[in-house]
Amino acid sequence: MSKTIVVDELGGPEVMKLVDKDPGKPGPAEIRIRQTAIGVNFADIHYRRGTAPAHSMAKLPIPFTPGLEAVGVVEDVGLGVSQFKPGDRVGYATASLTIGAYAEVRLFPADRAFPIPKGVADIDAAALMYRAITVHGMIRQCYRVKEGDIILLHAAAGGVGSILSRWAKALGATVIGTVSAESKVERCKANGCAHVIVNAKEDFAERTLEITGGRGVDVVFDGVGVDVFLRSFPAIKKYGTMVSFGQASGLVKPLDPIELQHRGLYLTKFSGGTYNEDVGEYQLRAREVLAAILQGVFETGKHMTYGLKDAIKAHEDMENRRTVGSLVLIP
Ligand SMILES: NC(=O)c1ccc[n+]([C@@H]2O[C@H](COP(=O)([O-])OP(=O)(O)OC[C@H]3O[C@@H](n4cnc5c(N)ncnc54)[C@H](OP(=O)(O)O)[C@@H]3O)[C@@H](O)[C@H]2O)c1
Repeated sequence: MSKTIVVDELGGPEVMKLVDKDPGKPGPAEIRIRQTAIGVNFADIHYRRGTAPAHSMAKLPIPFTPGLEAVGVVEDVGLGVSQFKPGDRVGYATASLTIGAYAEVRLFPADRAFPIPKGVADIDAAALMYRAITVHGMIRQCYRVKEGDIILLHAAAGGVGSILSRWAKALGATVIGTVSAESKVERCKANGCAHVIVNAKEDFAERTLEITGGRGVDVVFDGVGVDVFLRSFPAIKKYGTMVSFGQASGLVKPLDPIELQHRGLYLTKFSGGTYNEDVGEYQLRAREVLAAILQGVFETGKHMTYGLKDAIKAHEDMENRRTVGSLVLIP
């Protein structure tokens, strides 16, 4: 039996129940993984409470087990699986179609798993992979970050924010981060933010224009959504780009394209479901992220950890903006 979190009805953190479940035998092209570290992402909260975009909610089976990423050891393989054998260390960081990571043991499609190299700890891979694969898509495809760029990054102390700050700085960009509280400023600076704006104290758009001498930033990365999305546009330079990738504060309102025309702005939306739908693209991103972890681009060994049985507490902390960096459940 496998201790597994199950959600029978959408709602607050308390709808997550820990039950015993038989994971079963792997079917064709599946592997069974005994998991050692499970990543907690803001998307898990959206699915649990029903605030993910409507097209994503429509695909969600109920009851379901939350969780998009984990690391563990292969216990058994199904028919046709040749790339893995029992004892191999593997990870995955996928979108909603393979939801179900909050468990001790689970079945998983072999083609969406990747080997974890020696030198990458389970806890680091579980903390970093889903978010760093997201950041990879955003900084390589949505907007190709390059030396000399100035970036405005919302929720800079969070999981995605910490990874994006470090990767962008490594590429030679200057990062202006926003946070809700003074207590998060030091972390952002340690992650490479050149400037940190505390939203409670300053208007981030005005301050960003001040920092950039009135020019505005090359690109905004927005995972916060409705509270900051529209207010970010005045801080973008002529021909600059807005990359929307999340909505921790709520879904953004529809935008009239006329709003973009005055300064010729570009707007795009990242979605893990779209960018990682193709297995080849997803596996390439995973390999490049693992290489970046090995090169020391990201902070390792310092993630917030909880027992699997304490998933409720992890969600409460994240929802109430008490967390920094990534969160990991240890089964
Ligand atoms: N599109 C995709 O495929 C994809 C993939 C990965 C992540 N994401 C999105 O990226 C964002 C960051 O994800 P994450 O897992 O790393 O989370 P996170 O950034 O660690 O946590 C969310 C942060 O958002 C900020 N926030 C602003 N308003 C909030 C509100 N009303 N409630 C809660 N938090 C609020 C908080 O930072 P402050 O208190 O400092 O403001 C909070 O720490 C999320 O929106 C997530 O859904 C999208």
